Amino acid sequence: MAQYDVIIIGSGPGGYVCAIRCAQLGLKTAVVEGRETLGGTCLNVGCIPSKAMLHATHSLHEAEHNFAKMGLKGKSPSVDWKQMLAYKDDVIGQNTKGIEFLFKKNKVDWIKGWGSIPEAGKVKVGDDTHNAKHIIIASGSDSANVPGAEVEIDEKVIVTSTGALELASIPKTMVVVGGGVIGLELGSVYARLGTDVTVIEYLDAITPGQDAEVAKQFQRLLQKQGLKFITGAGVSKVEAKGGKATVNYALRKNDSQHELKADTVLVATGRKPHTEGLGLDGLGIKMTKRGQIAVDDGYATSVEGIYAIGDVIEGPMLAHKAEDEGMALAEILAGQAGHVNYDVIPGVIYTHPEVASVGMTEEQLKEEGRDYKVGKFSFMGNGRAKANFAGDGFVKMLADAKTDRILGCHVIGPMAGDLIHEVCVAMEFGAAAEDLARTCHAHPTYSEAMREAALACGDGAIHA
Ligand code: NAI
Repeated sequence: MAQYDVIIIGSGPGGYVCAIRCAQLGLKTAVVEGRETLGGTCLNVGCIPSKAMLHATHSLHEAEHNFAKMGLKGKSPSVDWKQMLAYKDDVIGQNTKGIEFLFKKNKVDWIKGWGSIPEAGKVKVGDDTHNAKHIIIASGSDSANVPGAEVEIDEKVIVTSTGALELASIPKTMVVVGGGVIGLELGSVYARLGTDVTVIEYLDAITPGQDAEVAKQFQRLLQKQGLKFITGAGVSKVEAKGGKATVNYALRKNDSQHELKADTVLVATGRKPHTEGLGLDGLGIKMTKRGQIAVDDGYATSVEGIYAIGDVIEGPMLAHKAEDEGMALAEILAGQAGHVNYDVIPGVIYTHPEVASVGMTEEQLKEEGRDYKVGKFSFMGNGRAKANFAGDGFVKMLADAKTDRILGCHVIGPMAGDLIHEVCVAMEFGAAAEDLARTCHAHPTYSEAMREAALACGDGAIHA
């Protein structure tokens, strides 16, 4: 068996990016992946396929609601569900093959199969044992069940995000358990396809951790699109019988019990680290209380030579957080100073409008007793947004009251997921809101709303 510098277990965004960077830095690298295709959850059953479905159904929404207003008359397109799924699968194929190509180009070996670690320095895949100086666990996460309810998921009637991307037909009714990112993205997909979607959320507001003003506006806009919400309600039981599901939930305010029936139930109550089958117990690897692999600042586990990145360790379960950790760890292993700035990790929800945020929320600033100022700007004041039926939403910039340094930014509006990055760059450079406000932004672009919010932190926005 070949001797590697690095063997990475898992080819999701954490693992594959880490592998490419290791190879670029001169380390002999292999990735162990048991799926038929590379790319992990993100490329196969997560970020990428859901974005294809969001794009397709948003296009349908545009045709149904906005085409006629622009003088584009005629029958709206009808939905060919099989073709929509085929388009989604084609997008997956293009992306996963892309990683295969990148592995070949960078001379990263793909060891096919499921890996385990019998001891430091060794990775077992099937009957073969491969040797490596460094082993990196990047095995990702799995959908978590409804806490305390242990629902039987059949991926047909009661589904996780994986089954929701493969339904045999478009359901007439759907209950989504959990008003987080997955529930709202996939809930939007089906609402646009005509499904009657009800989201049940345990907390009093959707998207926990989100800036409260943004979350409120987000719920309002999704309701306008037809999604129904039952908040402050805990789901205690979900059962499937004869191709239909029954959901039992209790309202937290008065403990009253309720029941809903649906063709499909999407369980979207979070994800849990995927650590089974790796042999971690035998190695004595230290875990956190929440079942994640404990690591130090350099992603080293408690066992020398074994590292972990991405969803299996602490922090937000986001593809780009895993990617950054992968790059940082590769650099550390190559003797460089790899580093991730956890204060500047954007979060994006790819609904329409999109929701994006970076840095601290107003609630967090209040909690810390920080002296801050708020610059807000509505997309209604943005010419480009008005032209594109995209005036819903706003930008909220938070800056230090004394120094003007940007502390956070929260956007609900068109292309929010792309717009947020100018603030990420600004924050990485320790910029003040005035720095953004004094930067020329092309007209007419959505990005002008970012500048206007920065201006609103100072003397005031122009178009407000
Ligand atoms: P989540 O943690 O975002 O949301 C789960 C929601 O379920 C929470 O609001 C929670 O209060 C609620 N909940 C829990 N138990 C409940 C119960 N018994 N009854 C009613 N509600 C209940 O988890 P989600 O949406 O499943 O996503 C999993 C992970 O995947 C997250 O870390 C997310 O960031 C990531 N992800 C990110 C995406 C993106 O960046 N666009 C897209 C999809 C997933």
